This record gives sequence, structure tokens and C-alpha cells, in this order.
Amino acid sequence: MDILSQIRDRAKALGRSVVFPEGEDDRTLQAVAELQNNDIIHSIVLGDVQIMESRARELELDLDNAELLDPKMAAYKGELADILYERRKHKGMTLDQARQLAVDPLYFGALMVKTGRAQGSVAGAAHSTGDVIRAALYCIGLAEGIKVVSSSFMMVMPTGKVYMYSDGAVVPNPDAVQLASIAVSAAHIHQALTGEEPVVGMLSYSTKGSAEGPSIDKVRQATAMAKELRPDLRLDGELQVDAAIVPKVAESKAPGSPVKGEANVFIFPDLDAGNIAYKITQRLAGAQAIGPIVQGLEKPAFDLSRGCNASDIVNVAAINALISASLEGVTV
Ligand SMILES: CC(C)(COP(=O)(O)OP(=O)(O)OC[C@H]1O[C@@H](n2cnc3c(N)ncnc32)[C@H](O)[C@@H]1OP(=O)(O)O)[C@@H](O)C(=O)NCCC(=O)NCCS
Repeated sequence: MDILSQIRDRAKALGRSVVFPEGEDDRTLQAVAELQNNDIIHSIVLGDVQIMESRARELELDLDNAELLDPKMAAYKGELADILYERRKHKGMTLDQARQLAVDPLYFGALMVKTGRAQGSVAGAAHSTGDVIRAALYCIGLAEGIKVVSSSFMMVMPTGKVYMYSDGAVVPNPDAVQLASIAVSAAHIHQALTGEEPVVGMLSYSTKGSAEGPSIDKVRQATAMAKELRPDLRLDGELQVDAAIVPKVAESKAPGSPVKGEANVFIFPDLDAGNIAYKITQRLAGAQAIGPIVQGLEKPAFDLSRGCNASDIVNVAAINALISASLEGVTV
């Protein structure tokens, strides 16, 4: 069974709730119908209820088991506005502004996640990545010990082997502290989605001192910090790609490294490298790229590509369920 089918099946066993702030988008409604029909998650869909219901009728979708909700009509919208205000008042947000923003579906959805009314959110079919991440940062915040929101692409090779590439979409120039957080977050995502032990390569154009330069120093510092954060991880750097994935090269270039040429999580020194690498792998190696999977938040708020289809949304929702469960220590 391919990894996405496995993820959908594992999500079914978890019984998680996911909120979809873009209920007035047809693809979201189609995905919600499929998620309900296959019992993958419980869906909460935000928008004008009349519009969503009439669109569902026109598209002949059965949304009977989904919860359709208009943020403006929710009894607890004031409670959510207070939470947003408390989180953002140090930046000058007024209570009035918080009340307005809290009924914006993106923010309302993120606040539902913050308060445990849903366990994760999925949006971005009709909003930019920046909008989705900003709402998540304002309403949910970072996971403990993590300094930055970033992302992973799950790369499924034609052989079925899965690699995690991070960061390919969010942080342009991470410093060493941020890079260490990116490594820890990506390792978590890899384990939660594949069930495999993550083996993390902190990538560079140098292997263990073969060259010198400021970006290499950064990767070395990040490696040391990531090891402190997660001493249990098989993680090492700085490594060139061949030393990270070819055991024979690892033996000669990085003897004694815990990675041993078996890396399945690649941490790139910056967004140029990460974005270029995932697209080259996708286009030249024929890999399927799933993501960006947003990581580093206390609870998952996932982004979609604006070009996504309903099936992409189903996959992202199933991934969301696995990640929210794993952040609570539940695995299947
Ligand atoms: C993350 C992002 C949304 C932040 O946008 P922004 O609102 O311009 O950011 P600001 O600099 O005004 O920061 C807003 C707050 O978020 C924080 N922040 C910004 N980026 C952050 C990140 N990646 N992780 C954690 N916190 C972050 C800032 O520190 C700031 O906090 P504060 O207001 O409490 O002091 C922005 O970097 C972005 O749009 N990234 C996506 C890039 C993209 O589109 N990639 C292509 C997709 S394939």
C-alpha cells in the first residue's frame, strides 16, 4: 500500500477533528464529503451555512455528518476574541480589532484549534501561505522548545521510499538556532508520518571540515544545538548529500557519524537550497512532493497550495490528523 493510503488508514483509527476555514470553496466541500464518506476524520467547516448548503446540493455532496458553522453566529466568538486580544495586545492589537479578526474564518479556525474545539486546521486553497501561517502564529503559537515555524516536503520516490526535505517553503535565511528547530520539527514529522526512525542529515557543501565558510559554521552550530535538543536522534552534520545518503561515501568522508549514509531527513542550510532541491527531485527523479507540511506549531495548522484539488485536501487533512495526534503523544 502506498504511503498516502497508509496515512489515510491510520488517520481513520484516530478519530480526530479538523476545521476547514474555507467552506465556501468547492474543493473544500468535495474533500469534506470524501473525508466523511470514508470516515477518515470529523470535519468542521466554516463559512455562511446557507451558501455552503446550497453549494453542496448543487454539487450533489452529502455533508450530513460534517459540522457547518458560521463564525459570526458562534456563541463563543467573544471568548475566542479575548484569547486573540491577550495574545496580541503587546503588539498594539485592540479588543475591537481582535473581535473583528476572530470571526475571520482563518483566525476563527486557528482559535478553535487553540482552544481544543478542533485538533487541527487545513486552509490555503483560497488564501496565501503567509495568511495561513500568520493566523496560526497569532492564534496558536510555537511548540515548546521550537523557535520557528517552518515546513517539510514529504518526497515519495518512484520506489516508494520516503524522504523529508526541510525547509522548502517558509524561512528564507534561518540562523543556527532556527535551523536546529527546523531539524527537530522535520524529524518529528518524518517519524509521525512514516513510522520510521528519522535519520537527519544537516546538509552543506562540506563534510566534517572538508571546507570552511560562514554557512558551514552555521550548519555546525545548528547541528550541536539540535543534538542538545534531541540527544536521542540519529542526526549529524555538516554533511554533503553523498556522505548523508551513500554508506560507502559516509565511511570514508564521515567515519563514526551516526547517520552512516542512511539519512531520510534532509535539512537544508537555507530556503534557496531546500526549494531548489525538492523541485529538482520532483522533476528529474519523478518523486511525488507532498507539502509544504507546516511544522513547529503547538498544534497543526496546515497550508494548501492554491492550485490544490479535493484529493490533495483529503491527504493534507489525514496528515493533519496524524500530526495532531503525535504532538499529543498518540501514535498508530
Ligand atoms: C511566516 C510569515 C507569514 C510571517 O509574515 P509577516 O506577518 O510578514 O511576519 P512579521 O515579520 O510581521 O512577523 C509577525 C510575527 O510572526 C513572527 N514570525 C514571523 N515568521 C515566523 C516564523 N517563521 N516562525 C515563527 N515566528 C515567526 C514574527 O517574529 C512576529 O512576531 P511578533 O509580532 O509576535 O513579534 C511570512 O514569512 C511568510 O509569508 N512566509 C511564507 C513564505 C512563502 O510564501 N513561501 C512560499 C510558499 S511555497
